[in-house]
Amino acid sequence: MGDVESMKKQAGIAACEFVKSGMKIGLGTGSTVKHTVIEIGRKIIDENLEIVGVPTSLATEKLALEVGIPLVELSDIDGLDLVIDGADEFDPNFQLIKGGGAALLREKIVAQESLAMVVVADERKKVETLGAFPLPIEVTPFSHEATVRALGRLLDCRVNIRMSGNGPVITDNGNMIADAHTGPKITNPIKTESEILMIAGVVQVGLFNNMCDAVVLAGSSGIETFVKPNGRLSD
Ligand code: 5RP
Repeated sequence: MGDVESMKKQAGIAACEFVKSGMKIGLGTGSTVKHTVIEIGRKIIDENLEIVGVPTSLATEKLALEVGIPLVELSDIDGLDLVIDGADEFDPNFQLIKGGGAALLREKIVAQESLAMVVVADERKKVETLGAFPLPIEVTPFSHEATVRALGRLLDCRVNIRMSGNGPVITDNGNMIADAHTGPKITNPIKTESEILMIAGVVQVGLFNNMCDAVVLAGSSGIETFVKPNGRLSD
């Protein structure tokens, strides 16, 4: 297993320390948190862990069912204890860019319904200022060219519709993803998030502000867990 893959696996498994029997857990999407999902499935079988999960994408739903995690609909329960998810970038204030896997809308709804959020990541995701990773924005297919132009004017950068082969990537919600190449310049992510959400045609943006309470980070020297001071997981 390559270094990065092994770091992802370590972080994904280490985050299970936050999972306790009886919890309702949001299950994130991506190549890091998939290891959390697999480990939760193992604990259900080997350690009688009792949890129910809410997946943030069709891909995670499939994996969770394969590893034996009982799933419920967010609409049928009164919130979640915790969501564990990946991120594309996180800054020193625990603000995130997410959506590299095109699941940002369901991820944000699930995070919003959770009492706390733990991010699993490898050290490449840690940045001083958000934006080197192109900012994913879910947009309606209707008039997406106009929405892309409006985003380009607002952010003053190149914005393109994410492609897969010859066609656009279509999200689990039937929408498209516009990637905004801002560069590492998002110094006020709260303002940027609210300005982007003002544009008609934008469904959601992959800036996750004031949602993340801890980051389980895998680096070459092992696992470090950073808990946000005064966050929902701080003592
Ligand atoms: C999906 C996401 C992912 O959590 C994010 O892209 C990180 O994925 P990975 O762990 O594969 O790097 O936001 O929409």
